Amino acid sequence: MAPKALPRRFFKQLPERFMHPLVTIAVGAARRAGELIVRNLDRAGGVTVSEKSRNDFVTEIDRAAEQLVIEAIRKAYPDHGILAEESGRQGGDEYLWIIDPLDGTTNFLHGFPQFAVSIACQHRGRTEAGVIFDPLRSELFTASRGAGAQLENRRLRVSAQRSIEGSLIGTGFPYRANVRWLKPYLLMLEQVMQHAAGVRRPGSAALDLAYVAAGRLDGFWELGLAPWDTAAGNLMITEAGGRIGTLSGSPYADGGNLVAGNPRIFTALVESFAPFLSDDLRQ
Ligand code: IPD
Ligand code: CA
Ligand code: CA
Repeated sequence: MAPKALPRRFFKQLPERFMHPLVTIAVGAARRAGELIVRNLDRAGGVTVSEKSRNDFVTEIDRAAEQLVIEAIRKAYPDHGILAEESGRQGGDEYLWIIDPLDGTTNFLHGFPQFAVSIACQHRGRTEAGVIFDPLRSELFTASRGAGAQLENRRLRVSAQRSIEGSLIGTGFPYRANVRWLKPYLLMLEQVMQHAAGVRRPGSAALDLAYVAAGRLDGFWELGLAPWDTAAGNLMITEAGGRIGTLSGSPYADGGNLVAGNPRIFTALVESFAPFLSDDLRQ
């Protein structure tokens, strides 16, 4: 069934006829979810919150945004499979949509203005389209395999930074179950802090990856991510000329420990982390 026509402004990033159909659907879905999230930001203190596990919160807004995204995808592609953070896996296998309806829930709950909607579509296990939408800045990052990554009508390119010395590096601090890696993580952080011009922990891994693709961050690393945090950003970074991998530099299969950056920073981070990797961190 054809998706309901969306107002023109939903497609201001690129003329609609130039967008991959999967990207077009993801853009419409991400904008709808983003509108809902922003509309509810003022009442973030009053929304119903539950704790999935210690320090892992989900709000009624995460769930409502996820339903909007799923509805939009189902309407366009009823046979496609879905893997969504809050409702899990459903539907077919050939195409799989991977959805984080609100990446940065802790920020949202505190009114800290850094969060995003992240949507990727895989065909037979390979990501073909990715969209990361920052609803507060109205920044829409898109990528489709072989056709590059874009922000509005600008082609994205990773930074040209040559070494960690003088770079800006993003990260995510370990929390929840990942605090078990706090010690090796702090050694990695110490290593980066001794050389970088700055280290940032903004709190939305999907946006961090979009920023690497856009050259705003020279590199990024985090332990224990989920597929919905990384699927769209993974394609975006690759299409923007960057690299993404495990802590030991192997190809990244969405979810788990991750290093990303422009090719030089990626290699430099992998090399500087090598002395701190126990067997379970190396995968
Ligand atoms: C989290 C954010 C955060 C990262 C966590 C993620 P959520 O996602 O991306 O930056 O450090 O690992 O789980 O739970 O807000 O969707
Ligand atoms: Ca997330
Ligand atoms: Ca989330």
